[in-house]
Amino acid sequence: MSRDPFFLRGEVPFLRAYRQTETPAEEGRKIRALFARIAPRYDLANRVLSLSVDRLWRWRVVRKLSPASGHRVLDLFCGTGDLTRALGASGAEVTGADFCPEMLLLAKERSPGLQYIAADALCLPFPDGHFDLVTAAFGVRNLVDIDRGLKEMIRVTRGGGRIGILEFSHPRAAWIRVLYRFYLRHWLPRIGGWITGDRSSYTFLSRTIPAFLDQEGLAARMRVCGLEAVRYHNFTGGIAALHVGRKH
Ligand SMILES: C[S@@+](CC[C@H](N)C(=O)[O-])C[C@H]1O[C@@H](n2cnc3c(N)ncnc32)[C@H](O)[C@@H]1O
Repeated sequence: MSRDPFFLRGEVPFLRAYRQTETPAEEGRKIRALFARIAPRYDLANRVLSLSVDRLWRWRVVRKLSPASGHRVLDLFCGTGDLTRALGASGAEVTGADFCPEMLLLAKERSPGLQYIAADALCLPFPDGHFDLVTAAFGVRNLVDIDRGLKEMIRVTRGGGRIGILEFSHPRAAWIRVLYRFYLRHWLPRIGGWITGDRSSYTFLSRTIPAFLDQEGLAARMRVCGLEAVRYHNFTGGIAALHVGRKH
């Protein structure tokens, strides 16, 4: 069964500070500050922590969603733009959006030809039905209000358009789950800390992974928020999953 996404195990002062913030706005500010701190070494940390498997996942997302040339695509939570660039290579008209300026600056530096916009996923500055496809890689897990975020994504998607969410999920096989949890608890914060100098951020991020919705849980939220034909593809045994849904 899926756990409450805000359920965090363990008593780490940093985590307590996160969960005790007074308002969703304040919580959002803290998430933004976290990404601002790790931005300069975020890509390197990703490559090392995943042994570059994260690149394969994004490549698979583009293959599965295969946006048509000329289609309008929003890559929400674009970070440093890894997925945005991969989507742009398909000939689609891609816009990257993120609420962290430090991440956006790096994205812009790496792909000056693409359009990037500072925006909060909970209140997007786009008209209804503007995009053919909205993607979100490793972002919904950190939303203060996941339903509100999903509804915003649906609002800016045209009727018949799709939403693709790549997120860490729950490995299917028990032995992978055990090894993976051990890695999350003991190694990910340590390695992330060595690379970025900010172990507490990686402690937080690693603890949000097992606490987040599982495959069925996220699919259910997407349906509740109004998407149809929701399905998911497990990547690397379910360590990550791509969920895809269609707007009516
Ligand atoms: C883990 S990074 C993922 C970046 C990129 N999609 C990737 O695959 O590497 C999550 C990103 O989501 C952004 N983010 C988190 N909450 C957000 C929100 N409410 N609105 C916009 N961006 C948000 C963060 O600033 C960060 O850049």
